[in-house]
Amino acid sequence: MSDRTFSLGKDLVGLEDLSADQIVCILDTAEAFKEISERRIKKVPVLRGKTIVNLFFEPSTRTKISFEFAEKRLSADTVSISSAGSSVTKGETLVDTARNLEAMKINMVVIRHGSSGAAKFLGERIPSSVINAGDGSHEHPTQGLLDAVTIRDHLGGFDGLNVCIVGDVLHSRVARSNIHGLLKLGASVGVCGPYTLLPADIEKMGVKVFHTIEEAIEWSNVLNILRLQLERMHSGYIPSLREYNQKWGVSKERLKRCSEEVLILHPGPMNRGVEIDSDVADGPNSVILEQVTNGVAIRMAVLYLLSGGAPEAAESAKGVIG
Ligand code: CP
Repeated sequence: MSDRTFSLGKDLVGLEDLSADQIVCILDTAEAFKEISERRIKKVPVLRGKTIVNLFFEPSTRTKISFEFAEKRLSADTVSISSAGSSVTKGETLVDTARNLEAMKINMVVIRHGSSGAAKFLGERIPSSVINAGDGSHEHPTQGLLDAVTIRDHLGGFDGLNVCIVGDVLHSRVARSNIHGLLKLGASVGVCGPYTLLPADIEKMGVKVFHTIEEAIEWSNVLNILRLQLERMHSGYIPSLREYNQKWGVSKERLKRCSEEVLILHPGPMNRGVEIDSDVADGPNSVILEQVTNGVAIRMAVLYLLSGGAPEAAESAKGVIG
């Protein structure tokens, strides 16, 4: 891509805010950055001199570590903070925390927060770039991007592709980022799950709704299987985990019934034996660990582009060993 006017803007809050061209540009830039993680010395000076703070106010394994690796491999100076052990436990507000970090001259903040809208709220109040690493049930844009690049790697593109998001769509920021991103890229998107775990009026987002897992599998080229977010369920959304698995779980037996190969994605962490059986998670159609690998490249691309890097210069920027 050689669009010299390309800009992602100051912050990355959600894929709802991006155009198809911007999304494709991030995916293409990630392709260029993938190779850095295959080198013996996994380090280039692309973000040398930049300071990045990772604020993780909710638990995370993949996203937190992936951002940290992406930052370190691009030579940024980084610190990571969780709410436990920080002054948040003494009642400090999010904005006060961020303003104090700003006072130490930072360039970017990566934030995961339990409240929908936290990343946008912060981005409007501090001059540093803010990247949303998952805010409540709103969006998880870098997960949506890494899912898209993984699908594109395997299936070549999005036109004519049917992607179904299965399970706890109601609580899922991953589902929202997937829906916004994949529709813009030209895929057809479906959702499938119990009525209690599908948002009211989800059809208005432009998705097809499936009421049985068998119909969803039959329609799909890709299944993106979501974790049941039990920590966000404060009343009886499902009768029991066993019954959920029997009615909605993706099993080898169910996959056998569909005519074509279906690519299996899951954002993690997985509840094995609940939304996905182990022989599917570890089976030949699963690209779950490739998603994790691609996450580092996607985050490198986002950090590079938000820091003002030109898409067409990514190849030459990464060529220099730090
Ligand atoms: N996919 C994802 O967001 O995983 P973590 O919660 O471990 O970051």
